[in-house]
Amino acid sequence: MANVFKGRSLNVIEDFSINERRYLFRKVMELKKAIVCNDEETMSGFRVDDPDFGIYEVFLEDSTRTKESFRNAAKFHHAKVSELMCSSSSINKGESFADTFNMLSGYSNRIFIVRSKVEGLTKWLSEECGEYAVRNALPYKPAFINAGDGKHEHPTQELLDEFTFLEDQDMDFSHIHLALVGDLYHGRTVHSKADGLKVFDSVKVDLIAPEELMMPESYIEIMKENGFEVRIFPSIAEYLASGDVAKMWYFTRPQLERMGERILQKQDILRDAITFKEQFLPLIAPGTKFYHPLPRHKEHPTIPTFLDKTELNGWERQAINGMYVRMVLLSLIAGKVGSDYEGCAEDVKDYRSEEYIISVKPQDNVRKEKNYSEGVRPIENGIVIDHICKGDSPSEIRNHMRLISSVLNLDESKGGEWVSRGSDGKYKGIIFRPGDYELSRKDLKRLAAVAPHCTLNIVRNSKVESKFRTHMPPRIYNFSDLSCKNEACISNPCNGEGVPAVFFRTQDDKYRCAYCGKVHSFKEIWNKRG
Ligand code: CP
Repeated sequence: MANVFKGRSLNVIEDFSINERRYLFRKVMELKKAIVCNDEETMSGFRVDDPDFGIYEVFLEDSTRTKESFRNAAKFHHAKVSELMCSSSSINKGESFADTFNMLSGYSNRIFIVRSKVEGLTKWLSEECGEYAVRNALPYKPAFINAGDGKHEHPTQELLDEFTFLEDQDMDFSHIHLALVGDLYHGRTVHSKADGLKVFDSVKVDLIAPEELMMPESYIEIMKENGFEVRIFPSIAEYLASGDVAKMWYFTRPQLERMGERILQKQDILRDAITFKEQFLPLIAPGTKFYHPLPRHKEHPTIPTFLDKTELNGWERQAINGMYVRMVLLSLIAGKVGSDYEGCAEDVKDYRSEEYIISVKPQDNVRKEKNYSEGVRPIENGIVIDHICKGDSPSEIRNHMRLISSVLNLDESKGGEWVSRGSDGKYKGIIFRPGDYELSRKDLKRLAAVAPHCTLNIVRNSKVESKFRTHMPPRIYNFSDLSCKNEACISNPCNGEGVPAVFFRTQDDKYRCAYCGKVHSFKEIWNKRG
């Protein structure tokens, strides 16, 4: 049977489906038992055992656990393990990430493990190096593993966290009640949980952090869309007072140094809200476990060191599990295990099949004078974009019409914009441009991307020759004047890598960057002009 894992990249936790992750966890359990019992036969079933199989670590940010557990996992496989000396590499001479990784791909390296503060980097590299492999007839397409990208995701940490939770509830996937405590704003390990915890059938999450460290609203939204029950508490003390307290607590390190002087002045108060104290011990249920991705801060640990020798300590085993999880992940991507996976192929959305520019039959009759909107007169030839921003205030409609006019390059032509009020009492905008206009399919796509839910009339000889209604495109891409507004994203122009922006529509009609996941309104994705 074909191995669905072979050569796959793991950029975000969702790159592996729920069933694929469940399969991985069962394999981790199998390998962990084999290693503990020194069962060489089972271990050899996982081992890649190929000294030419190149696994390359590129850590552009510091790491101990992720880097060293991957290095030890790679050694288990008897693979060729390399590490890029980032502080002395040509990246520091202004070489692009694409050039660096393309070249390393050509040196017989099949799996790259990359940590960077640039969000979405491995997704971009997996696309770019895949094309390089084809151009250069490499016998493989390199796979990428995101070992943590800025504030975005840390999918292998998510895998080892999920495995440890499951280990502690006898591999029961039916339910989890988890408290997330600490710096939920910066912590990429908790951001990965917004989708990661979907591996459980039912999820209740308690978010415990003061306002300054609370999880970004976009991740809370994802949790809610995923059907999680989400509760919010400003401090551990207030959480314990609620009377409904999880038996699994996941702490993260406060990254206050990233938050500027105003926050640093409050650091003692903020730390206090998310630090566990001895007097809390009688308030938690027997069997409670604490977890932490580590490192803890040596002066200000939010799980104090006096708890290390107690039954609460789940974080030490969690860190050890990191190596087992990463051993299995490398086995899967190398194609050594996975051919017995029986999960169904995941539904891949075909974005080409959704039509969002609908051609409608123009009405035969020329409209009577009395039906014209106030102040608007018919044009003999030209285009009329109608129903813009229906319902918004006149000033919002005018701002939006300025954006449409500039995106469609209509600023220099004659014509005008008008705000009218319909018989339903709602405002709407109309742009009209007299002249000879030929609109290509690409022009119509731009119109839909900047003015969804409008009507375009193409007028010739005083008649509407053709008419289109626009809907929100399922993805917006392939326009040079788009950009993700997250400066940490690989596709933001400030990173200088020339990565074209790509956005996917969310359930609530916003647009999510394909690389870093930042959510934008359809108006925000266009570059400022002028
Ligand atoms: N948990 C984790 O990512 O640790 P490191 O930063 O040491 O890799």
